Amino acid sequence: MDGDLIKLVNKLQDTFSNLGGELDMPQLAVVGSQSAGKSSVLENIVGRDFLPRGQGIVTRRPLVLQLIHTPASPSDTYTEYAQFLHVDKRFTDFKEVRREIESETFRVAGQNKGISKLPIHLRIYSPNVLDLTLVDLPGLTKIPVGDQPSDIERQIRNLVMDYISKPNCVILSVSAANVDLANSDSLKLARSVDPQGRRTIGVLTKLDLMDAGTNAVDILSGRVYPLKLGFIGVVNRSQQDINAELDMTAALDRETEFFRNHAAYRNISHRNGTKFLAKTLNQVLMNHIRDKLPDMKARLNTLMGQTQQELDSFGDAALFGPQHQGSLVLKLMTQFARDFVSSIEGTSLEISTKEL
Ligand code: GDP
Ligand code: NA
Ligand code: MG
Repeated sequence: MDGDLIKLVNKLQDTFSNLGGELDMPQLAVVGSQSAGKSSVLENIVGRDFLPRGQGIVTRRPLVLQLIHTPASPSDTYTEYAQFLHVDKRFTDFKEVRREIESETFRVAGQNKGISKLPIHLRIYSPNVLDLTLVDLPGLTKIPVGDQPSDIERQIRNLVMDYISKPNCVILSVSAANVDLANSDSLKLARSVDPQGRRTIGVLTKLDLMDAGTNAVDILSGRVYPLKLGFIGVVNRSQQDINAELDMTAALDRETEFFRNHAAYRNISHRNGTKFLAKTLNQVLMNHIRDKLPDMKARLNTLMGQTQQELDSFGDAALFGPQHQGSLVLKLMTQFARDFVSSIEGTSLEISTKEL
């Protein structure tokens, strides 16, 4: 995640929690057919290897992943750790996180391809993340397999709808480039809850697996399926890469090279790839915050007014005795809130010139 955005959001969040409020950040959910690459895309966004991925049906329960920003502390070697709701333990090894997701999936959804609506809750505490909730979801499917009930299509659809129908949800609609986009159920579902396409980002995976002589330039240029926020092509790790434990940095470098060296994608390489997807996501989040600024400012102003009145009632002399530490705090807070309002005014300007 972008460092400036992390700083801005943290400042906003700290201020609001000091004032007894809350900044409600969007949730981010992935929608797409089974094996389209949803878990791979989410994992790349988080920048950590921890999600079960693979051929066939792997994600069988929703995973509600809360990223929680914690300040870096030089004395603590374990500033980054994960914690599940269902088990009282701090995980610092992310391979173990993956194993725990797998066994928790088996425990509730069974051994044989069954699905459960019951989410797994996971929190990642790290200095490198933004307070944000990401949701990994089972893939859309048509034909029941294993222990799946005959109405599995409808069940998964309803499950996905529970998440993406919230107006506060940013939808990553993931489709594989080696499957005809006309059949994309995820785009249809996304459109049904976001007809204006304000909060849907199209992600096209597996560009490396397209038949020789074909490419996805038309889709990536918005000529096949128009989406306001556009389609972004990515190349995730293949099953072979996963088996060989290819690390994320190497995979991202290889992806950059793929776009730069590909005859069809060379000219659009700057607006494709995982890094560009992360940037686009940052922009969507910035816009979300900007939309909330007027309301936030109004709340701060009201609070400042109240605090000022309270201060006035104490009188200046009252501020300096040791018995009135509380009023001094109020005074400092008022100053802080004032500075803060001018700082977010600056920020909103910066966003509108930089991002639009
Ligand atoms: P999900 O079922 O939608 O969550 O998909 P996964 O992320 O589990 O990926 C399914 C399979 O597709 C895995 O074996 C991945 O390695 C593979 N995969 C995903 N994205 C890509 C890609 O862009 N290129 C290649 N070659 N394989 C991919
Ligand atoms: Na899969
Ligand atoms: Mg998955």
